[in-house]
Amino acid sequence: MQILGICGSLRKASFNMAALRACQEMMPQGMAMKIATIGDIPMFNQDLFDAGLPESAKRLRTEVTEADGVLIASPEYNFSLTPALKNAIDWASRPPNQSWQDKPVAIFSTSAGPMGGARVQYDLRRILGQLWAHVLPRPEVFIGMAQGKFDAQGKLTDETTRKFLADLLTGFKAWIVRMKPR
Ligand SMILES: Cc1cc2nc3c(=O)[nH]c(=O)nc-3n(C[C@H](O)[C@H](O)[C@H](O)COP(=O)(O)O)c2cc1C
Repeated sequence: MQILGICGSLRKASFNMAALRACQEMMPQGMAMKIATIGDIPMFNQDLFDAGLPESAKRLRTEVTEADGVLIASPEYNFSLTPALKNAIDWASRPPNQSWQDKPVAIFSTSAGPMGGARVQYDLRRILGQLWAHVLPRPEVFIGMAQGKFDAQGKLTDETTRKFLADLLTGFKAWIVRMKPR
């Protein structure tokens, strides 16, 4: 199973990217993940779309379409999605052949605050649901107070968090199988 990882933060020292990289190292057997670049995708503008997709947007659409599943890690910005993540979702959402159709998706959030960015997850479920993506209902993983869970190199040092992420990945593998058209 080829998984596409998408990080909602563009920050070099992003905790979400660090957590996504930790996931990359602990993928269940038979699963591999590459992480998308979304920072170079221009702000969505229908005129750009109509003029012919920018290369970066075309690349993302192809990556989402070809992936067996998409794993999204994101902080919440002001209780909702980051602009980079919403932009990436929007570029991949326009017909024809919108990329989220029937796509298994798993999400988790990481934040420096105590709530672990929980609120972005509900907005993500709402947005992706109406695009006919299938978002794994549980387990929900919220990594709060992230500054204490990663070392200076961005390595995940908190074993409880590692276990939560491992459970999410195991659940995601089963979800992808379950969502496959028969
Ligand atoms: C514009 C902006 C809005 C933010 N809003 C929230 C918020 O609503 N809730 C929260 O827990 N953290 C919020 N934060 C703090 C982020 O959770 C924190 O910066 C986090 O480390 C970002 O994730 P990253 O490390 O992956 O970049 C906000 C940060 C920014 C820049």
